[in-house]
Amino acid sequence: MDLSVKIGRIKLKNPVMVASGTFGYAEEFKDIINLKDIGAIITKSITLKPRRGNTPPRLWETTAGLLNSIGLQNEGVEDFIKNKFPFLKGIGVPIIVSIAGDTIDEYAQLAKMLNIPGISGIEINISCPNVKLRTTNYELRTKLFAQDAKAAAAVVRAVKKNTKKTTITKLSPEVTDICEIARAVEKEGSDAISAINTIKGMAVDIETQKPRLGDITGGLSGPAIKPVALRIVWETAQTVRIPVIGIGGIMTADDAIEFLLCGATAVQIGTANFLNPQAVLAVKEGIEEYLKRKRYTRVNDIIRGIKTNV
Ligand code: DHB
Repeated sequence: MDLSVKIGRIKLKNPVMVASGTFGYAEEFKDIINLKDIGAIITKSITLKPRRGNTPPRLWETTAGLLNSIGLQNEGVEDFIKNKFPFLKGIGVPIIVSIAGDTIDEYAQLAKMLNIPGISGIEINISCPNVKLRTTNYELRTKLFAQDAKAAAAVVRAVKKNTKKTTITKLSPEVTDICEIARAVEKEGSDAISAINTIKGMAVDIETQKPRLGDITGGLSGPAIKPVALRIVWETAQTVRIPVIGIGGIMTADDAIEFLLCGATAVQIGTANFLNPQAVLAVKEGIEEYLKRKRYTRVNDIIRGIKTNV
């Protein structure tokens, strides 16, 4: 069975990756799961300088999902290179580093600093819903970069100028026209798109009458968002030529197969890792069984295979 797919210049043994922020920097999972069987590892987003993150509580479980408000807590790019990357490099699967910044220049600097052998690609996180839209330097922002086609394009342009590595731009579902944003980042040379990031939400404790999260709102992930993610992937995959990586509430192989049928070239597993740290491998195996049962020999044969009669 040929499960391999290509994302930009990255060849993946299988199309199932772990999503940013749900797998740390992989080392903490080394005794729980065979890391080398994962399609690719996307690391927790890093920023130029260390960040302490948002006010706790930062997690709240909802009816069919998870609200999080981490606030891009991380130790910064220098610590990543010195202390996190050496372990990642030895795993033997493509390592994709997620980057986030307040300004376009911060994304550019991060891309430049990550021109290190052993890093396969950069995921440009322009869609984290938990950051305050700071007014550092001259940039006054009212939207996420992912919510404005020109801003999204400008970030991709700045990153591309500073790296030859495969770039994946992570989009937000919270836009009027996802196709406009997808086209804009493709035009600037983004090698792939990942969709979707979390959807901003909130929850309230009616006894204390306070928000459940310290910073009031958070990003919603998990099964609750899967239908939204599927629709966005389907719309995006029909619009651009670059590969689309599906993410949003994938808990099982069947979920992943829906994304592949809707046009995703690969998928990312996020929230499911918290329930079952081996979920990514169960999804991979389930895809393989489905392909066998349906008498396919390559995963590529089902990508975009949805029968819509249109
Ligand atoms: C963070 C949360 C997210 O849901 C996301 O997509 C990216 C970053 C965070 O708060 O760190």
